[in-house]
Amino acid sequence: MSQHRPHTGHAWPHHLLTIEGMAAADIHTLLDTAETYVARNRAVDKKHKLLGGRTLINLFFENSTRTRTSFELAGKRLSMDVINISAATSSVGKGETLLDTAMTLNAMQADAIVVRHPHAGAVQLIAEKVDACVINAGDGAHEHPTQALLDALTIRRKKGRIEGLKVTICGDIANSRVARSNIHLLKTMGATVTLVAPPTLMPTAVDGFGISHTTNMHDGLKDADVVMMLRIQHERMSGRGIASVRDYFMNYGLNREKLSRAADDALVMHPGPMNRGVEIDTDIADDIARSAVLDQVEMGVAVRQAVLELLLSK
Ligand code: NCD
Repeated sequence: MSQHRPHTGHAWPHHLLTIEGMAAADIHTLLDTAETYVARNRAVDKKHKLLGGRTLINLFFENSTRTRTSFELAGKRLSMDVINISAATSSVGKGETLLDTAMTLNAMQADAIVVRHPHAGAVQLIAEKVDACVINAGDGAHEHPTQALLDALTIRRKKGRIEGLKVTICGDIANSRVARSNIHLLKTMGATVTLVAPPTLMPTAVDGFGISHTTNMHDGLKDADVVMMLRIQHERMSGRGIASVRDYFMNYGLNREKLSRAADDALVMHPGPMNRGVEIDTDIADDIARSAVLDQVEMGVAVRQAVLELLLSK
């Protein structure tokens, strides 16, 4: 059982809603705690008694494979009772109904509620109304904190550090909560971040991010230690998007030729689901010497266990 506790002089917050505002010391604590679960998850007996008797509810208003399964496994490996609610096909999703759903789950004495919602700010709204710990599993294009944390753990294990690395994030930045959470985390941890996107997929407020950005992928990849590719978020496009998949792949799809601009040992990452032949060449995606995609999935379970431990075992 992990002995790590936050030692940053303040109590661990009740909810995990954003990476923005999180201190570097807390991120280190969380990654150290997650590290203790990595070995345990590779053992035959993966179960801890730590959170036995507690209830975790996964409340997903958007589709998910990795994140939902990962939270479910994390809860079960800590002996929690876990239930999954998929609201994507139901009529919920509007203001009051959303809160009614949350209050209902709260009345059932849930200890933790993991929420994914298509609207930025919806998870925060729920957190303000319930007693349970609320964990943001992605709200619109706003934040996806556990994805940034699992990416950080993957980078730290593969590269031995985060500070001082050059990380290039490429693709649909404008619509990506993964990009936003990663930008906050990587800046806080002392990495240098460069964004690469076509003009239509670059956030309009990018100049205020305090990081470099370019529409030229060859320039953006130069000497990168880590290359993070992002999916085109077709479901979040509102008129601005890509004209043709073929052109997009030619200019922004990661292939060997473009990757050769990065450092020789550059790590390739993608949060999944991948669109092969759109943002990433299948040859790179499957290259186990370069691609950390499945390591990211593995680290996801450990990071979510750490989050549950730190939020709930106080
Ligand atoms: C991401 C998400 O849902 O924000 N996926 C994930 O959580 N692994 C990225 C995406 O959907 O492209």
